[in-house]
Amino acid sequence: MKTLIYTIFGLFSSFGSSEFIYTTDLPPVDDVARMARYIVHTADWCVLSHITHQRNATGYPMGRVFSMSDGPVGKSSGTPYIYTSFFDAVPRDLKIDPKCAITVSLVQTDYCKNHDLDPENPLCAQVMLVGEYEFIKNNTEEWDFAKEALFTRHPEMKDWPVGHGFTFGKVNIKNVQIVDYFGGSKYPTVPEYYNVTLTPNRKSFPKITYNAIPMNDILRPN
Ligand SMILES: *[C@@H]1O[C@H](CO)[C@@H](O)[C@H](O)[C@H]1NC(C)=O
Ligand SMILES: *[C@@H]1O[C@H](CO)[C@@H](O)[C@H](O)[C@H]1NC(C)=O
Ligand SMILES: *[C@@H]1O[C@H](CO)[C@@H](O)[C@H](O)[C@H]1NC(C)=O
Repeated sequence: MKTLIYTIFGLFSSFGSSEFIYTTDLPPVDDVARMARYIVHTADWCVLSHITHQRNATGYPMGRVFSMSDGPVGKSSGTPYIYTSFFDAVPRDLKIDPKCAITVSLVQTDYCKNHDLDPENPLCAQVMLVGEYEFIKNNTEEWDFAKEALFTRHPEMKDWPVGHGFTFGKVNIKNVQIVDYFGGSKYPTVPEYYNVTLTPNRKSFPKITYNAIPMNDILRPN
């Protein structure tokens, strides 16, 4: 089965997202950290989930789509950057509670459609990054990197109104979860996630960590 999947992935040679075409093959499914980095770098938007503090919903989770970039194409940092306005509710919520998560999926590209994969099919791989939101300080190197990362992949951002208080921010990742194959979610550690260069393929990679909650606990009758 694994060989088959490698072959399917191997056939795949290019896919496009709304802003750019990334043309290298998918990493092998066993190199989970690299697969996660690949998907994060390929995605140019995400769902950012956080805890809302709006009326009648305080303490509930909420997700909103944001344009995202972990670096200019070919310069992946692994850290997801976004550009938010304080006219929007989300960054106001994040000032109160920075806990958040970013979800990205290959469904954002042509890959899943081209391979006839339903968005929930594990082979239509997705990554969830959980952590804390940090507003980037201006006049810093990181501000400049975030700006290059986002503006090169989202050209209209440079025309967004200055008066709307846009600032760059990022998620400081505490946990990485990826679904890219049958057998449940996998959890590359944060150091493993960052210890990846997207090219070339590597021959050895860290052992896979699976779900912390045993299946037996879930299936036990009430
Ligand atoms: C919040 O809930 C209250 C009570 O149900 C309701 O009267 C009010 O209109 C709601 N506010 C909003 C913004 O939905
Ligand atoms: C940098 O941030 C400070 C504090 O938020 C603000 O007063 C200042 O206008 C900002 N400078 C630029 C160049 O955006
Ligand atoms: C980083 O990756 C290299 C090989 O790609 C490996 O030799 C090294 O042990 C890794 N370091 C960490 C901290 O995972």
